[in-house]
Amino acid sequence: MSSSASQNTSSPMLGLSSAVTEAESFKLGAGPAEARRTWMIACGATGGVAAAAVAIPFLGSMAPSEKARSAGAPVEVDIGDIPVGGVKIVEWRGKPVWIVRRTPEMLESLAKADGQLADPGSNRTDYPTPDYAKNQHRSIKPEFLVAVGICTHLGCSPVSAFTTGAASGIAPDWPGGFFCPCHGSTFDMAGRVYANKPAPDNLEVPRHMFLTDASILIGKDEQGEA
Ligand code: FES
Repeated sequence: MSSSASQNTSSPMLGLSSAVTEAESFKLGAGPAEARRTWMIACGATGGVAAAAVAIPFLGSMAPSEKARSAGAPVEVDIGDIPVGGVKIVEWRGKPVWIVRRTPEMLESLAKADGQLADPGSNRTDYPTPDYAKNQHRSIKPEFLVAVGICTHLGCSPVSAFTTGAASGIAPDWPGGFFCPCHGSTFDMAGRVYANKPAPDNLEVPRHMFLTDASILIGKDEQGEA
């Protein structure tokens, strides 16, 4: 896999999001060795802020009004253009948020991972999971995962590692998920961290809600703003 993703800035709402095709989404997840080289540089010296800047380089080009909006306000995102197996990345409160449109195979992989995870039920409280995402797929609709793309260890940004099996470069039986190159934490396709890894918790699922079948609001749900 290549570490360079071809990303298409595509959201008319924000001008900040990036949607990729299924094939391109795989490219987002560099092979572990390649990704580790890049991300050790990003994470080792300056931590997660630098890492996020490397992962989402277009964040640096925000207009002032966009910066203000992303600083706290909920973010409305068009998800209708995300292909099955693809990812869209937006910024919310200065953090990258992934919206992953999972394939049936990705969803099937979740059950297989259950026994190897540190917190399969998302019961830990440091990164509390909203009740509507306290399920195996950690989402409102199984198809769509919404998660903050920041590792719960030291704040690097994991990469997608959707290629399964030995071709992933992670493990012969890798079922697909996310990989943090900084120190090797691995997460399943719901952002649940594998046991005995440096990252102590699952990836954060931010408050969010569906406005329509094709749009979501990040940072607010029926209970209010995050
Ligand atoms: S920051 Fe250390 S494993 Fe992710």
